Amino acid sequence: MKRICVLVSGGGTNLQAILEAQTSGIIKSGRVVLVISNRKAAYALERAKTAGIESKVINRLKCGSREAFESALANAIEAAHADLIVLAGFMEILSPAFTRRFERRIINIHPSLIPSFCGEGFYGLKVHEAALARGVKLSGATVHYVNEIPDGGEILCQKAVEVLDGDTPETLQLRIMKQAEWIILPETIEKLCREGTQEETI
Ligand code: GRF
Repeated sequence: MKRICVLVSGGGTNLQAILEAQTSGIIKSGRVVLVISNRKAAYALERAKTAGIESKVINRLKCGSREAFESALANAIEAAHADLIVLAGFMEILSPAFTRRFERRIINIHPSLIPSFCGEGFYGLKVHEAALARGVKLSGATVHYVNEIPDGGEILCQKAVEVLDGDTPETLQLRIMKQAEWIILPETIEKLCREGTQEETI
């Protein structure tokens, strides 16, 4: 069984989808053992508490520097013996030193079809605003490995979602979450945990 650490900053609906996928058996080769938030007020922390999962708040400003913040993150991840690190709405860009330390062990969910509407500055509703401004008829979500390039790591899974007439950034965001993010993130986690487990037993 792989050990999963989920990094969050906000509402945590993707965390919730992961926890429900554990209950329903979609995720069966791994278990969330730790949730880390960089914001004390993140509702995701409540979700972790309700599910009885250990959580920690590690705040960049309180740590004093990015180095200290990342070192606190790395220490918590290592102390939890996490195999897989899932960024689920985590609003911090991680340094190359950090992403190299956990190479091919960090994944992220991004709410567009990469390489569209991604990279630095494309987060939250901004992604959907840009998609609507460009007039695309399809958007979606992407799960990818995290490397030193923001949203630039190897793509693991994508799912397209229709953009409808009259969409607002909010309606598009919710459709993409329901029809893509909450499905492909748990599925990809299971796939990576299962493959990792098989590699070890060979
Ligand atoms: C999601 O749209 C995710 O794709 C993006 O940030 C949002 C997080 O939402 N990276 P939540 O905290 O999981 O509800």
